[in-house]
Amino acid sequence: MTDNLTLIENAEIVLADCTFRGWLAVDGGNIVEIGEGKAPERGHDAQGDYIVPGLVELHTDHLESHYVPRPKVRWNTMGAVMAYDAQIAASGITTVFDSLRAGADLDGGGFGADLLALGEALEEGRRNNLFRAEHRTHLRCEIPAPDVVEDVMAYAEKFDISLMSLMDHTPGRRQFRDLEKYAIYYCRKSGKSADEIMSDVDRRVADNSARSAVNRPALVAFARRRNIPLASHDDTTVDEVATSLEEGVALAEFPTTIESAIACRDNKVAVMMGAPNLIRGGSHSGNLSALESAESGCLDILSSDYVPGSLLMAAFDMPNRIEGVDLAAAIRTVTKTPAEVTGLADRGEIATGKRADLVRVAMAGSVPVVRRVWRGGQRVV
Ligand SMILES: [Fe+2]
Repeated sequence: MTDNLTLIENAEIVLADCTFRGWLAVDGGNIVEIGEGKAPERGHDAQGDYIVPGLVELHTDHLESHYVPRPKVRWNTMGAVMAYDAQIAASGITTVFDSLRAGADLDGGGFGADLLALGEALEEGRRNNLFRAEHRTHLRCEIPAPDVVEDVMAYAEKFDISLMSLMDHTPGRRQFRDLEKYAIYYCRKSGKSADEIMSDVDRRVADNSARSAVNRPALVAFARRRNIPLASHDDTTVDEVATSLEEGVALAEFPTTIESAIACRDNKVAVMMGAPNLIRGGSHSGNLSALESAESGCLDILSSDYVPGSLLMAAFDMPNRIEGVDLAAAIRTVTKTPAEVTGLADRGEIATGKRADLVRVAMAGSVPVVRRVWRGGQRVV
């Protein structure tokens, strides 16, 4: 598609702090002028639809469901990556941090050699300009996994890493402080019985603690050396937040309790919560609800997590759900703030000089519908 954008008129434009009816002009892939009311010349007629900045998604593991569409089924890497890219872009996301897991999880997942194969496919897509969205890598590091450091080093040798998160899904901790929820989650995911899952919990906890003590500082030091932003994951206690602060995290993914979310807020660490959590009215693993977090002023970033379309839906729903949040503030949680915490100063906002990553959104009742997407002024959807 080579539809080069020069002007959008008749649009409900969502800036970082307000919304107004007007137009914007684009040149060289950037926004060069914004005005209220009637446009000085004809351009793309938005017919009164919203124009919002292209969404910035920091944590989606949705590539996994294209690459592993059924347990033990591996799809062609390039086919998976391209189908995933189309879904991401059609959800209004123009910058995506593909979340790839480093280090095996309990269910035997973890990409291992496949991690590099996916890295290759993503690199090929970038090299040949095949993508609709801009793809960056977020390595989700399962800290207690025996192979996590090895996976990260092997990936880093060949590809860029734009974000690393430090995960620990040890039973009895963080996301799985409640052991019953741990058993239920992994029964569903792995097909094993609860007895099988729980049979060697004590041994697993001990092994995990020993490995984490080595892996965690090694990966934090690596991220610092490479200037890669770090995210904490599932912080549950105030002590865990204190550890994350010492490690210099830029954002906190899915704090599981209101205490930990407030500790992040008070220490100016951006809090990310799941858009599906906000839409569904609760966390799928029974932890802190995004709504409660937002009501306490502890929601800076939304992530689509496992449903790409949830990002725009949740942002448009926020003003109805949370007092004091207007559409501009809601849209910031999926554009400007995620761009800022990951050091992407050239995008995330409709302002002169910023990249023309733009999404035209119509409303179907209360559901926002993506009508068109431009990245750097080029039509991609
Ligand atoms: Fe988690």
